[in-house]
Formats: sequence, structure tokens, C-alpha cells
Amino acid sequence: MEHNYSLQPFNTFGIDVKAKHFATFSNIAELQTILHSAPNLDLLILGGGSNMLFTQDFNGLVLRNEIKGISVVKETNTQVFVKAGAGEVWHEFVLHCIAHNWCGLENLSLIPGSVGASPMQNIGAYGVEIKDVFHELSAYHLESGEMHTFHKEQCQFGYRESVFKRALKDQYIITDVTFALAKQPNLKTSYGAIQQELDAKGIQNPSIRDISEAVIAIRQSKLPDPKVLGNAGSFFKNPVIDRNSFETILAKFPNVSHYVVSDTEVKLAAGWLIENAGLKGLRQGSCGVHEKQALVLVNYGGSQGQQILDLSSHIIQTIQALFGITLEREVNIIPPHESIL
Ligand code: FAD
Ligand code: EPU
Repeated sequence: MEHNYSLQPFNTFGIDVKAKHFATFSNIAELQTILHSAPNLDLLILGGGSNMLFTQDFNGLVLRNEIKGISVVKETNTQVFVKAGAGEVWHEFVLHCIAHNWCGLENLSLIPGSVGASPMQNIGAYGVEIKDVFHELSAYHLESGEMHTFHKEQCQFGYRESVFKRALKDQYIITDVTFALAKQPNLKTSYGAIQQELDAKGIQNPSIRDISEAVIAIRQSKLPDPKVLGNAGSFFKNPVIDRNSFETILAKFPNVSHYVVSDTEVKLAAGWLIENAGLKGLRQGSCGVHEKQALVLVNYGGSQGQQILDLSSHIIQTIQALFGITLEREVNIIPPHESIL
């Protein structure tokens, strides 16, 4: 176990904070040994640190999940059930599946972070969320020390949501996730610029690898690489509002970028709201709103987490005043920040 350990290399915002205690585990026995040797400490489970903002030193035990391994646990005529250790790197796992022609994860290429964190907020991109291919997960119950299995319906997946962020928050450590992947592709090319990207390359009958490469190219064109510019992807969720509220906004802002979710709900592009509030490219000290994607906050180097949190509060207030909409943060604030602002 390490003490007063720098977390800067372990969070994609690159915030320079320390953990009072820090340990890694690569199997459940190791996890249990660490937990028994350090009872009564506040715990933080760390994957790739790509959806976290540290606002101060962590005065407890940071546990970095390094459980590895990918295996096929079941196969049918049409599906293959693939289990991955929570500490596997998400994008490497996606590439592994593509190489084996296991279909369903290709639209989720290049999302940073670990397999174990993927169910936490039901990661999604380009028209696919992990709930679409999720089968089950195993998790260590901190209170009892037992292993529990969660099937899809028990995870209560929603847009950037799961039971592990709500009712079961901080109660479980996810140790592996099993996905039900297809043997035949069911390509999803209608979202965003995927089709445009394929057309530009002259690809008429795309493979899952072509889709993955198109998604990677689109992502690289707008999202900053955390190795170059600290960030945690979208800082806020896209707000989902009811039809009536949407009609009111549409009357005032006819160009508002949106997607119809259902007969009763519409999702607004928070990036559009932030850009049209004049905040895109805004810089406050060493942090700011990304110049190419207004939903992403960036650390230009040396920013403190609190400064980024303050910037996010300023954005929430400005959007509230202008559009009457309250943005919700997607990034996990550590330690948790109770009030909306
Ligand atoms: P961490 O940041 O380490 O942890 C996130 C949360 O999960 C924390 O609360 C942590 O305690 C908890 N946690 C982590 N592992 C476990 C575990 N094994 N058991 C229990 N709790 C755990 N997200 C999307 O959905 N779609 C995108 O398109 C997307 N694009 C991104 C682009 C960039 C450039 C970046 C930097 C981030 C992006 N994200 C996106 C956000 C992020 O990649 C995902 O949320 C990812 O799943 C986080 O994984 P992680 O391992 O880094 O989690
Ligand atoms: N837009 C602007 N200005 C901007 C940014 C976006 O006007 O600066 C508008 C444009 O109209 C654009 C629309 O917003 O067409 C949508 O933008 P984009 O396709 O970049 O996606 P997003 O809604 O900003 C969401 C996810 C991303 C995911 C992409 C692709 C959320 C909170 N974010 O972003 O996920 O990769 O779609 O599917 O849902 C993440 O969660 O960290 C993340 C990066």
C-alpha cells in the first residue's frame, strides 16, 4: 500500500491531488486482503479516472482495479457471451471483440476508461449504449464481502445512469462484466456523421472494423486527447425535457439542436446551449470550455479541480438564466458535491 500518493497520472483531467492511501488489486483475494488490513477508511474505486474531477486530496483509500482477463463463457448459433475483467481497458476490449468478429461494441470505440466502470453510467456513443449488449456483471458487496451477480434489469440502466450511481451507490465493486455479442453484424450507421465518414472513404458495405474506424475518426476530430489536454469528456449530461417545455424553447430558439427521445420527451444538445450562451472557448485561469466541443471542460495545465468545478457552476447558472434549463453534471465530483451549483 502506498501513502500520500499522487493521483495526477490516474485522472484524465490531470488534477494534482494526493490519496492518503493507495493500493491496486488484480483479483478478489487481493481486494479482500487490502480491505481487511485497512478497515473503516473512506473508499474510492478507481478505473481509468476518466469520469472524475478531484477537488481536493482524498483522505481515505483509493483502490485501483486491475482485474484482467477476457474469455468466452457461452456461445449459441447467433451470440457469443464474452466476459471481461473490470480492469481491462475499455477500448482495448472493444478492439479485441472486433478482431474476433464479435459484433455490437464497435460504435463504442475509443471511449476512455475501464470495463468495470462501463456499467456505472451505461456508457454510450453514436447511437449505442452498453445496455444494448450487456448480459450480466459480478460485483463484490463491501458490507458482506459476498459476490453478487446483477442481470440487466437489476442494473436499472438509463441515459448515463444505473443503480450503482443511485440506490446502490458506493456499495459494490464491479469485478467483471459479461456482454452478449452478435455473430452477425447489425450495423448502426445513422447516428451523427458515421455515414458521412463512410461515404467520404467510399465504403459501401462496411464491416464492424470500418464502423469502429469511422467512430474513431469522428471522435478524434472533436474530442481532446486527455494525454494532450486534460478533460473528462462531456462534463454535463444532455438535458431531457418534456414536449411542452421543448415547444417553449423552440419558439424562442428555432435552431436548438435536439433529438426526439419519445412521444413525450426531447433531448437537447447541451453543447449547443453552452455554445449559444457564448461560452464556447471561454477561459478562466488555467481551465476553460473546449474550443471545438462546448460540452467538454479542459485543464490547460495546472488547474485545480475546484476551479473547474467553479467554471461548471458558472455554466449551470448562465444556461439556467438564458434557457430556464438546469444542466446536470455527468462527471463524478470527488468528494461528492451535494448542491446543484
Ligand atoms: P473512473 O473515472 O475511474 O470512475 C468513474 C466512476 O465509476 C467513479 O464513481 C468510480 O468510483 C466508479 N468505478 C470505476 N470502476 C468501478 C468498479 N470496478 N466498481 C465500482 N465502481 C467503479 N463516456 C460515455 O459514456 N461516452 C463517451 O462517448 C465518452 N467519451 C469520453 C471521451 C473522453 C475524451 C473522456 C476523457 C471521457 C469520456 N467518457 C465518455 C467518460 C468516461 O470515459 C466513461 O465514463 C468511462 O466509463 C469511465 O471509466 P473509468 O474507468 O475511467 O472510470
Ligand atoms: N453542439 C454545438 N456546439 C458544440 C457541441 C455540440 O452546437 O460545441 C451541438 C451540435 O448541433 C451537434 C450536437 O450538439 O450536432 C451533438 O454534439 P456531439 O455529436 O458532439 O455529441 P454530444 O451530444 O455533445 C454526446 C455524448 C458523448 C458522445 C457523443 C456521441 C453526452 C453527455 N455526451 O455528446 O459522450 O460521445 O454524444 O454519441 O451524452 C461523454 O459522455 O463523456 C461523451 C463524450
